[in-house]
Amino acid sequence: MSSVTSGPRKLYVKSYGCQMNVYDSQRMADVLAREGYVETAEPDDADVLVLNTCHIREKAAEKVYSELGRLRRLKQDAARDGRRLTVAVAGCVAQAEGEEIIRRAPVVDLVVGPQSYHRLPDLVARAAREGRVVDTEFPAEDKFDHLAPPTAAATRARGAAAFVTVQEGCDKFCTFCVVPYTRGAEFSRPVARIVDEVARLAEAGVREIRLIGQNVNAWHGEGPDGRPWTLSRLLHRLAEVPGVARLRYTTSHPCDMDDELIAAHGDLPALMPQLHLPVQSGATRVLAAMNRRHDRAAYLSVIARLKAARPDIALSSDFIVGFPGETEAEFRDTLALVDEVGFASAYSFKYSPRPGTPAAESDAQVSEAEKADRLARLQAAIDRNAAAFNAATVGRTGAVLFEHPGKHPGQMVGRSPWMQPVQVDGPATLAGTIATVRFTATGTNSLFGTLVDAAPRDAATSPHSASPGMAPVRGNAVHVAAAGR
Ligand code: 5AD
Ligand code: SF4
Repeated sequence: MSSVTSGPRKLYVKSYGCQMNVYDSQRMADVLAREGYVETAEPDDADVLVLNTCHIREKAAEKVYSELGRLRRLKQDAARDGRRLTVAVAGCVAQAEGEEIIRRAPVVDLVVGPQSYHRLPDLVARAAREGRVVDTEFPAEDKFDHLAPPTAAATRARGAAAFVTVQEGCDKFCTFCVVPYTRGAEFSRPVARIVDEVARLAEAGVREIRLIGQNVNAWHGEGPDGRPWTLSRLLHRLAEVPGVARLRYTTSHPCDMDDELIAAHGDLPALMPQLHLPVQSGATRVLAAMNRRHDRAAYLSVIARLKAARPDIALSSDFIVGFPGETEAEFRDTLALVDEVGFASAYSFKYSPRPGTPAAESDAQVSEAEKADRLARLQAAIDRNAAAFNAATVGRTGAVLFEHPGKHPGQMVGRSPWMQPVQVDGPATLAGTIATVRFTATGTNSLFGTLVDAAPRDAATSPHSASPGMAPVRGNAVHVAAAGR
């Protein structure tokens, strides 16, 4: 692609939005690695630059357009140096806007939807030759069958916790959400493929597997017996893969939390005591208008059963304020629900009308000022609960999976079972291992701790057994924003 520079061609991928996009960005890098591309952390020396976009809320798409504006300069600079920079837009904005992107931002050479990433080598070559290539089809073939696995070295570089997409798409059609349109109908990967991918990751040193999907607990992939399996059964199977110490899954829909999955939170030691379960609103009338298929009581009943199965579970959620027609009293139902559940953390958003979704058509839109006011009040309630959750962890011990060095020399950072970032003083050799830590203080959305056993414990030992008698603990689960739910 680059006509002047020698050496491997360089790829820069910038990911917006959810974990699904982080995973897809890695898969894009893996597919292009087979063609000789190496990843660079510097957009300035890239031959191919991919923006992997998110369309869930308005601001996300606008951010992409302003980034594309800035890229014009980069492309001109490259041309001045005799290089050709190929700019690609991938992800949900690509899917939703298609050709419109090239019209609005002529700097773009390639628009590629999430179902076409396995065709990237061809598409990139064509775009570099001709420019202006758009591929946003939903091909009948399964892209996962064609996506290259990462090398062991690439896996190690990505750390001790890895995402594995097990499910894509959504059939729920919440009235505010674009996901069913941009990501299409639900699709579950078969058990054998998932087990292979997890085994490869574990062999390369990954200790924690995070199963992801827009609707992950609706997963119903085909088992080796030719019949659909449940997510709970899949989790039990993955816990048997040598080297896998911890499992998490996200993002779930309350209606798909079946008894078996709830029981797994009590029975399966590798399953971490943490769950992201978006509720969106605490008011039954609003939930109905959102087409959420559950009311306030049904959500609270799922929460009660989860807490019964796993008393220390850290719960998090997504909320939308100012959904069309939401009254002050209904908003207060949401505030009350935050305190009733005692969330460890939560994401909250102002309702953003998405073209083509039913709620965008409503003439009962809530004013911007009202939305801003409700968002601030909701965030205050969430912060209060999160701080209480974190504070209650102090004085307890738990198993921490260490990931990387901290900001200060001699400091290492990992994740607690409840997903909080944890900082301790310890050797760099802790990276990729699990060790028991006593939590001593809270930071901003994080914990400080001291190592209990100086030598890292066997990474495969379950964190459950690492801290017997771990009484109900409340912690602040902090994690990457989830895809639509
Ligand atoms: N406006 C505001 N928030 C939205 N989300 C999804 N669609 C919208 C929208 N139109 C939020 C939901 C979802 C999270 C990923 O994004 O809370 O769970
Ligand atoms: Fe599906 Fe979630 Fe979007 Fe609802 S909010 S349509 S469950 S992705």
